[in-house]
Amino acid sequence: MRYIYIITLVILASTTLGSAQFDHFDLSQSCMDEAQKLIGSEEINACVPISSFASLISNSKSENEEAAMKTMADSICGLPKCSDSLVASTQKDFRAACQQDLKAKNDLANSIDAAIALYSPLRDSICFKNSTDGYCFIESYTSLKQINDKAPKNQSPVLTFAGASNEQVCTPCNKAITNTFNNYQKVHPEAFTAIQGYSDKDVETAKNALTGKCGESFLDGQIGDTKQKPSEFQQQSSPNKSDASSLIANGLSLATFVGSLIALI
Ligand SMILES: *[C@@H]1O[C@H](CO)[C@@H](O)[C@H](O)[C@H]1NC(C)=O
Ligand SMILES: *[C@@H]1O[C@H](CO)[C@@H](O)[C@H](O)[C@H]1NC(C)=O
Repeated sequence: MRYIYIITLVILASTTLGSAQFDHFDLSQSCMDEAQKLIGSEEINACVPISSFASLISNSKSENEEAAMKTMADSICGLPKCSDSLVASTQKDFRAACQQDLKAKNDLANSIDAAIALYSPLRDSICFKNSTDGYCFIESYTSLKQINDKAPKNQSPVLTFAGASNEQVCTPCNKAITNTFNNYQKVHPEAFTAIQGYSDKDVETAKNALTGKCGESFLDGQIGDTKQKPSEFQQQSSPNKSDASSLIANGLSLATFVGSLIALI
């Protein structure tokens, strides 16, 4: 399930960090030490409650996946955002200590690195709330999961996306999240290279797919009002007809689409 790739990665990476169970991840000693340092850092825990993630997750074991995500989001969004300088120094230290692991494309090291590089848009995206006061990313995750579950097995993500209804894709929440990442990318293109399988071309394709489906105004750089009712929002944006043919023509690069832009939803 790559749809909420990045967000799940962050949560997974944080949970792994929180539970301090690195054994089966095959990290180098210096990288493991650095990860332990992150977990124990008071400064980091003041804005990302890593050390409490493990207990949050184990306490919510009996609940469903969405309840667990909500608990994590409540704890992240209840704290102030980390400063840019803390994020930058954390990234620098992590990359130095985990140089070898990143080079070897270790999954956990890569996830943590991407999570740090994209901390700012991630944190913003995790905290958006919808018209019924639920978390946007959970709404998006649930609806993308439905889209995916309904699609025939092994169908290309292109066809699945092209066949999804505008009501499911063109929502105030998805607009806020995609514009948050899009705006961040304009200023910090280098942050995105930390995502495995990321390419500019795929993101362009993804953007065209989204505007084809939801109208040019969908990616206008505005976060908009995530609390607006989706039905009202859709009446206002009146998108052009879904551009399924260009999606299919771009099938190959769209495969990574799921891993890049929509994936961030
Ligand atoms: C708002 O998000 C929650 C999940 O966080 C979801 O259950 C709910 O259906 C969403 N509301 C709308 C109007 O989509
Ligand atoms: C629909 O397409 C027309 C022409 O291709 C374009 O001028 C217009 O801006 C589009 N509308 C939206 C909402 O994207």
